[in-house]
Amino acid sequence: MRYGHFDEDNNEYVIDRVDLPTSWTNYLGVEDMCAVVNHTAGGYLFYKSPEYHRITRFRGNAIPMDRPGDYIYIRDNEDGDYFSISWQPVGKPLDEAKYTTRHGMSVTTYECEYKGLKASEKLSIPIGDNALIWDVVITNQSDRTRDLSVFSYAEFSYHHVPIDNQNFQMSLYCAGSEYNDGTILYDLFYEEEGYQYFTSNFEPDGFECMRDEFIGIYNTESNPKALESGALGGHFEKGGNHCASLQKNLELKAGETVRLIYFLGEGGYDEAGAIRKKYSDPAKLDEAYGILKKFWKDKQQCFAVKSPEKGIDTMINTWTLYQAEINVMFSRFASFIEVGGRTGLGYRDTAQDAMTVIATNPEGCKKRIVELLRALTSSGYGIHLFEPRWFLPEEEKENKKKPFKSPTVIPEPEGASKVHGLDDACSDDALWLVPSIVEYVKETGDTEFLKEEYGYADGGSGSVYEHMKKIVQFSLKEVGDNGICKGLRADWNDCLNLGGGESALVSFLLYRAIVCLKETAIFTGDISFAKELSEELTRLSESLNKTLWDGNWYLRGFTKSGKKIGTKENREGQIHLESNAWAVLSGAADANRSERALDAIHERLATPYGIMLNAPVYTEPDDEVGFITRVYPGLKENGSIFSHPNPWVWSAECRLGNGNRAFEYYRSLCPYYQNDSIEMRWAEPYSYCQFISGKDHTTYGRAHHPFMTGSGGWAYFAVTHYILGIQPNFNELIVDPCIPDEWNGFEVTRKFRGATYNIRVKNPYHVQKGIKRLLLDGIQVDRIEAQADGREHTVEVVMG
Ligand code: GLC
Repeated sequence: MRYGHFDEDNNEYVIDRVDLPTSWTNYLGVEDMCAVVNHTAGGYLFYKSPEYHRITRFRGNAIPMDRPGDYIYIRDNEDGDYFSISWQPVGKPLDEAKYTTRHGMSVTTYECEYKGLKASEKLSIPIGDNALIWDVVITNQSDRTRDLSVFSYAEFSYHHVPIDNQNFQMSLYCAGSEYNDGTILYDLFYEEEGYQYFTSNFEPDGFECMRDEFIGIYNTESNPKALESGALGGHFEKGGNHCASLQKNLELKAGETVRLIYFLGEGGYDEAGAIRKKYSDPAKLDEAYGILKKFWKDKQQCFAVKSPEKGIDTMINTWTLYQAEINVMFSRFASFIEVGGRTGLGYRDTAQDAMTVIATNPEGCKKRIVELLRALTSSGYGIHLFEPRWFLPEEEKENKKKPFKSPTVIPEPEGASKVHGLDDACSDDALWLVPSIVEYVKETGDTEFLKEEYGYADGGSGSVYEHMKKIVQFSLKEVGDNGICKGLRADWNDCLNLGGGESALVSFLLYRAIVCLKETAIFTGDISFAKELSEELTRLSESLNKTLWDGNWYLRGFTKSGKKIGTKENREGQIHLESNAWAVLSGAADANRSERALDAIHERLATPYGIMLNAPVYTEPDDEVGFITRVYPGLKENGSIFSHPNPWVWSAECRLGNGNRAFEYYRSLCPYYQNDSIEMRWAEPYSYCQFISGKDHTTYGRAHHPFMTGSGGWAYFAVTHYILGIQPNFNELIVDPCIPDEWNGFEVTRKFRGATYNIRVKNPYHVQKGIKRLLLDGIQVDRIEAQADGREHTVEVVMG
């Protein structure tokens, strides 16, 4: 069953059946302000922090689903009938009204046709402004003049999510509103800068600031008291729950169109006045859409592919790029699933995200990498969850005050206590950062970055290169009885705690980090260190292969008491994806074992909807193995199709030259190909989800938690770097694709260090991997050296 389609020309996903089984979301804003919105205008707005500076309220995990939001109601004053431009909250029967939702890159548009009226509401946050703009257009398609009233509605929040949900004894009496000259001002009195405004580009005919006056305490957003009566009461108050409703009465002649623009923004009357002035001419707003479009177009032009598969082109050029970028921008804690009660950066997630879109967002990725460098301890482990401002140098701290001071005391760790000990350290966290730093240098050519000096979370400082060394040294030191890296609090798999045992995954990640460090050492001329690292790699590979090979695949680790995890000897959890993918991807496994490990994944973990994390699922709690055994079979880390590590397997297959299988896996997980199976998938077909119920669960095939997952970034990275095979290197651009043998080839336009490469790959012999001929600007070459001339170049690759 399908609910919509991809509109490639406009980079939009068009939902034309809005009665979806779950919320399909989008993210608006590309700077400090962000709105998470769904297909029926439900959602919330925040400024900088989804936890501390929430502007509009959201009732997570509630019924009706995902309310309130950014609502526009239109009332016909002749008969009192009213509807909302988004299907919800009024929810007119779908055979009486036609609704469409378009999610695009940082814009979402709701459209509706009802009883001779056509209306649209377009939401966006323009670059350079801290305001969510609602751009409303109403056309009278009937043949008579219509007597209408248009009402806006948004509900303000008490800024701090826990206080907004629990502690009303202060907030209820500290939030106030007022109205002046067309502007509603919301004030959180206990905050110094706690103002927001709601205003418009027209003179309102009425206003309401009090939520319960607008809705009525026995009504809901579906049938607000104000719409029943048709007039706003004009209330405001010091204290209580507040909303933003402006009324506009319209006599709309047959065929006539009106455009009403609303602004929901950060700041007081001055900011409201400025934004009103700026966009008093709607042409200015159209210009802002153009700027936003160009922001994304510029990114899209950094890597644009034309392949035989629309499911690669549409996703890589638009949606997966978009998802990966959003993760770098807003991290992981702002969705309808994570509703803002957690904040900050997760070390491992951020370290991986920051590697994936360096070509399209070098500054953003560098910023994240630096935040992670500063959150590294001098002993080489990362602070698992942290606020970047904790570790800013004093001179930068000045203007980065704590964003929120609570009226009731919420202790925040000070100084050294922010730095947790080894007990809370995750064994994989910082290992992800080493390859990300190297990728950054390879992409940008900014080798000076390696010399830049950054502080450690617990004091002292060192160059970026020194940070990298510390990370590797830490993992080399933290080994257990079997000579394998300790699992510590947990590794990538949060739920596989191994009771404090040893992790094969981390050992392979260490191997990869050393490979990256060695490459860097060679490149920077640190030859004796590179030699040491080479020896370390040989030693490590021998010991890992000796201890971790289980006969047909690699183990996942050992528990503290020495019990093997991920072995044929186990009854449950015999094989795990992570260690096998990374044994291959890190280069630690030889050709034969690599092939067998990947065959084992194929045989035991692959499904038509992606690769499961482990099998058979755990059915009995075993705290020595970890929390994974207390998660229901087929869900989350216990044998679901966990999306994030799937691209690790695609990449590993490409290392071995198996383009057919890599693509088969891509296709199975890629949401694009499930556009017509929404009765099974539920979630959006334009975003990867955190996980898909595995075959041991009754909801097999259902996708959960869109957007905020490492699978966006990793899918983008695996396709661009491994399947299409275009990888930056220190001095060159490598083109070494691994594609299905039936492909005739593909084309990519790739920007690299200021120059543009128009790459045409031909596959006349129908191989999966291998280069027979490489031409740069028509001249046969062995490698594509980075061209420093900022010009366009042609690259022709003949596979064979
Ligand atoms: C969640 C966490 C991530 C972890 C994964 C697997 O996605 O954000 O850090 O690696 O689960 O447990």
